[in-house]
Amino acid sequence: MMRSVVWSNNCLTLLNQTLLPTKLEYIECYDWRRAAEAIRRLEVRGAPAIGAAAAFALVLGARELTGLATNEFKHKLLATAEALRQTRPTAVNLFWAIDRMLNVITRLPESTDSATAIAALEQEAIVIAKEDQAVNEQMATYGASLFTTPTSVLTHCNAGALATVALGTALGVIRKAWSQGNITGVFADETRPLLQGARLTAWELMQDGIPVTLITDNMAGWVMKNQMVHAVIVGADRIALNGDVANKIGTYSVAILAKEHGIPFYVAAPVSTFDFTISSGSDIPIEERCASEVTSLGGNCVAPAGVKVFNPAFDVTSHTMISAIITEYGILRAPYQESISQLSKMRK
Ligand code: MRU
Repeated sequence: MMRSVVWSNNCLTLLNQTLLPTKLEYIECYDWRRAAEAIRRLEVRGAPAIGAAAAFALVLGARELTGLATNEFKHKLLATAEALRQTRPTAVNLFWAIDRMLNVITRLPESTDSATAIAALEQEAIVIAKEDQAVNEQMATYGASLFTTPTSVLTHCNAGALATVALGTALGVIRKAWSQGNITGVFADETRPLLQGARLTAWELMQDGIPVTLITDNMAGWVMKNQMVHAVIVGADRIALNGDVANKIGTYSVAILAKEHGIPFYVAAPVSTFDFTISSGSDIPIEERCASEVTSLGGNCVAPAGVKVFNPAFDVTSHTMISAIITEYGILRAPYQESISQLSKMRK
């Protein structure tokens, strides 16, 4: 299976997701600034993949500080961490990974030299990446238990191996359920404006031989109406304490359609995607991206020059529309206030 985030010999290699599926090109980052740029440009994207990339970017940043005295090392590392935090606002995995990395430094004795600190940071980033794969495997097992008969599912955006370190969240569940004979096919919403569904999900599933049918976003209602879809499964970028879920723009519309048609709507997300500090989805910062993403398609202009554009990259789906949230600790059900509070006590 392809890898979107690879660390080896002090180089962070990222699969350039903006070029898929037409070009398979990798970006080699030796400088944290290039990695930060890759996150901002969506060359690496998807909540868990962003978190892992930021962790390795912080290792690259720390390596620049080799030989500095403890105080200066910490001061400059915090500045790098702050710059990385500014790259994208919605996916909480970014902040979770950076905090986890900084905690490593906090735990080291005051007298620790920079070489030891850098080695400890590198070790933590490697653990973050490894854990993501293990967590996705566990989620896949739990999630697949929801599919006990042959089911046609619909997914939005890309919550696959490309969006994580390996396997994927929603697509991890689909992969597992498929291997158990319980997926008949997947409808992939194209996911305007940046087409993660068409470019990435369709490509990923085809690589695995899982039958995928591409639709434009405005076709989802019609396929549901015609009973061509039995369940929806998506990933998440941030989940609040009450179970409200921020995910790629358009997820909210799919959830409403699923509710109207009596179709279960599942979210698959690791604990690192939960924000235990916010009570509801209204506290989630929603990224707004540049107008050109909406006014152009595949590099071609599709709107009059100068038209006013609104381009929120995410929306929030109310917990009331979510049938279950699949995590590596098990399947959460309503009332989410309670199940998420339990989850916060269980996590390591
Ligand atoms: O803007 P993107 O492509 O980073 O948005 C990604 C999504 O919304 C995914 O569905 C989400 O991160 C879940 S990924 C496992």
